[in-house]
Amino acid sequence: MGHGEPHWWQTGVVYQVYPRSFQDSNGDGVGDLRGVIQRLDYLHETLGIDAIWLSPFYPSPMADFGYDVADYTDVDPLFGDLATFDELVSAAHARGMQIIIDYVPNHCSDQHPWFVESRSSRTNPKRDWFIWADARPDGSPPTNWIGPFGGSTWTWDETTGQYYLHIFLTEQPDLNWRNPEVQDAMLDVLRFWLERGVDGFRIDALHNLMKDLELRDNPPHEGTLATHRTHGEAFDSQQHIYEFDLDDNHEPIRAMRAVLDEYEAISPRVAIGELHIFDLQRWARYYGDALDELQLPFNFGLLNTPWNATAVRALVDAIEAAIPLGGWPNYVIGNHDEPRIVSRIGAAQARTAMMLLLTLRGTPTLYYGDELGMRDAIVPAERMQDPWGIRMGDAQFSRDPARAPMAWDDSTTGGFCADGVEPWLPLAPDHATTNVAAQSADPHSMLNLTRALLQLRRSSPALKSGAYHPADDVPEGVYAYRRSAGDDRYLILLSFIDQPVTLHLPDLHDAEIALSTSMDREGRVGAGGVELRGHEGLVVRLG
Ligand code: GLC
Repeated sequence: MGHGEPHWWQTGVVYQVYPRSFQDSNGDGVGDLRGVIQRLDYLHETLGIDAIWLSPFYPSPMADFGYDVADYTDVDPLFGDLATFDELVSAAHARGMQIIIDYVPNHCSDQHPWFVESRSSRTNPKRDWFIWADARPDGSPPTNWIGPFGGSTWTWDETTGQYYLHIFLTEQPDLNWRNPEVQDAMLDVLRFWLERGVDGFRIDALHNLMKDLELRDNPPHEGTLATHRTHGEAFDSQQHIYEFDLDDNHEPIRAMRAVLDEYEAISPRVAIGELHIFDLQRWARYYGDALDELQLPFNFGLLNTPWNATAVRALVDAIEAAIPLGGWPNYVIGNHDEPRIVSRIGAAQARTAMMLLLTLRGTPTLYYGDELGMRDAIVPAERMQDPWGIRMGDAQFSRDPARAPMAWDDSTTGGFCADGVEPWLPLAPDHATTNVAAQSADPHSMLNLTRALLQLRRSSPALKSGAYHPADDVPEGVYAYRRSAGDDRYLILLSFIDQPVTLHLPDLHDAEIALSTSMDREGRVGAGGVELRGHEGLVVRLG
């Protein structure tokens, strides 16, 4: 953190809304922007989050559910229109909440007018807005690159007799960021939304932005990519060095940040970037040598780390050490691309994970529904929607289960859409009990735990922006750390094991339990120390 007061994006909590799945307001079984407006009081008053990140709502053929953008400066009729978007921004701002939107610079839809022009002829002025290359002499694609959704990253275009590059789906051609016209046009997109009052961007797939100029083949890779969720054998069989995390990614990111900085005098804006980079040294470079790139390069470490005290502590400490001076950490335990936290690690563990997320030093991003401990939905093969799952022909790759509609109540449609309307994806199997209404009424619920954590965080300078110090003298299976800002001091104790353990730390002597993940105890800690039950987490206020 620099001098002076921390920014909203440092002290605040970001909440990710996947618009398709949050609230349907017009009876088509798909969530929309009006639906988000209807739920602002939930987000602000009931829950108490600070910023909303909206996944894409732009006009799109929905090959990748909006991550295939056909117009960067409008709203898909499925989600509403620009007037509704403006209303959402005003309504959020009126409540003191910020709006962060998804910006997808790496690729657009093959229906985007830019690509339609580009593919119309080799001499079209937009030809070089995308990445075209000749076939090899045997007719095969220009490189051996395999995309994260499986298969070659190249598609042959019959009309003009060349291949075009698409890291993701065939329907998502990659923009050529080496072309200054593309840069200018895409930076204007940022200005368009900044003028409309957005407070920041979550920038998609930044690791892929630049590609090797010489289009060299990726070398082979043996074994599995340890830190990565598998993307299938073919993808994992390559070292992705020529289309992933290139050194020249940083220049266009600095250009994006410079645009945000043009608006900084009006109000502080944030650039959050999606980076699946797990080499922390390489990852930390995205803060920028002069802290002039991303304020929050997404840190996905907790999504892949084995759920034990040693591994989690080692990860957090390594992240703290990797971040450049003046850089600010951030943490994520779920998003629209990953299985739900409860389904990954278990229900009790998800409570500890929530306590971890909301008490670490850094900005937390909370995925919608994780505040309830929503589980992955069970999606029958014939209802599979995700192109990744469909393309791989394998449900294990489908991201549908984590994108199930938000469960608001115990009705058949969970309050997500009107009765009798079929939601675009089935609700999670336990939605009759795991929903906002039921959990609001239960003092021990995950929702009430999340609310209490958010409240505590808001009231505490130590938790919002204080220092982080891991504690060494704790039993195995426990991860403990102190957070402090002046006199405001907390000790967080997290159990990663089934058995109870007793802790005797010197400063527990004069301490008070502020919150347990079980929501069933408070009060002073006696001379005998404190017993931590299996998978319990405690926030302890130090005297
Ligand atoms: C990012 C998004 C993911 C999308 C992909 C391609 O990884 O988070 O949902 O499928 O980019 O746009």
